[in-house]
Amino acid sequence: MKENLTCTTSTTPTDPVSAFTSLAALDPPSPRSYGPGASFDVLPPHRAAMGRQQPLPPEYRLLSPDELDMRIRRARTELGSRLVILGHHYQRDEIVKYADFRGDSFKLSQLAAGRKDAEYIVFCGVHFMAESADILSAPHQKVVLPNLTAGCSMADMANLEDVEVCWDTLDELCGDHTVPVTYMNSAADLKAFCGERGGVVCTSSNAPAIVRWALDQGDRVLFFPDEHLGRNTAFRLGLERTVVWDPRADLGGNTRAELQASQMILWKGFCSVHERFTVEQIEQARAEYPGITVIVHPECHREVVAAADCDGSTEYIIKVIEAAAPGSKFAVGTEINLVRRLADEHPDKFIFCLDPIVCPCSTMYRIHPAHLCWVLENLVEGRIVNQITVDEGTRYWSHVALQRMLDMGA
Ligand code: 13P
Ligand code: SF4
Repeated sequence: MKENLTCTTSTTPTDPVSAFTSLAALDPPSPRSYGPGASFDVLPPHRAAMGRQQPLPPEYRLLSPDELDMRIRRARTELGSRLVILGHHYQRDEIVKYADFRGDSFKLSQLAAGRKDAEYIVFCGVHFMAESADILSAPHQKVVLPNLTAGCSMADMANLEDVEVCWDTLDELCGDHTVPVTYMNSAADLKAFCGERGGVVCTSSNAPAIVRWALDQGDRVLFFPDEHLGRNTAFRLGLERTVVWDPRADLGGNTRAELQASQMILWKGFCSVHERFTVEQIEQARAEYPGITVIVHPECHREVVAAADCDGSTEYIIKVIEAAAPGSKFAVGTEINLVRRLADEHPDKFIFCLDPIVCPCSTMYRIHPAHLCWVLENLVEGRIVNQITVDEGTRYWSHVALQRMLDMGA
């Protein structure tokens, strides 16, 4: 019997993540009233690897959900096995339902590397994921991101220029061997930076194993861009000498001695979704629902992860909940689209989001069914819109860094 799930919904009468708004329902249709999270006016950040965003033709903005559904299905059928649609767990239901495969960042990168038969990989996720798919895919494959403004605010918190300043400082001060490790949530040029310097990529599911490997290769790890995943990983590995590198401060806000003694340097970046979860929310959930299991993503603050019963990637969270006995209760600290889907798919369990205020990932949410319909219909016509292509120089070294991770099978 499904228990009351209003914990996540009753406080938000104008809930932005309820069934997607038809673009036609917006009156009058204009670039400013384009659909929730679709961000028509937002320009993609300037990056070498990013293609040009083409404007969504007005006709797509006027289609009803039923028309979009019919046209998306028709385009998929016409493209057949030439097409694979990948969907991250944080995508809204109206998008995830079209995904051939759903997964976390790691699983989707493995899928992108393994589906050499598909000519088109339409990636319903965010920009860094589509870049990784392009890096790992074969030359004949084309990767498409339905809305190029679907980026990641955390990934944008580290850029190559700032990381190079940090790297040069460490080189000068420490003189020994630092190994760079970048979280999957980073631009391709940062993955290439790691590949070229003996470093590697990690995801939220393999960060401890990857950082352990990196420490075997050198004296310390420079970890970017997520401070919290870095700190949670350091804790798991029993590393005590961690420092935070603030790219806006001299020496990253540290003394020379602190940097020289450090085992792990954590870039000062964070996820705006996971930052919201607090220890107080956990205490409240336990007070209201004794015996509840609290499970959170490792992008949450260290104290939140410490207070939770367990933590792991989106894929891990899903597996734990799937394996639990009927009647189990879960308070989940991750993005709301996934938490709601879990609640819907497991009516025999009580599942709600730790944060009572709905908190979707606003950039993931930028992919609207109208974008998906538009890119698919263009593919049917032999036109590729919103293709993600990583330039050759960046591709080589970022591939090295990604392949090191995949080879570890961690
Ligand atoms: P995973 O899917 O790897 O757990 O990452 C969560 C996330 O924040 C993706 O951007
Ligand atoms: Fe980036 Fe956080 Fe959104 Fe993931 S949930 S894409 S880390 S902003």
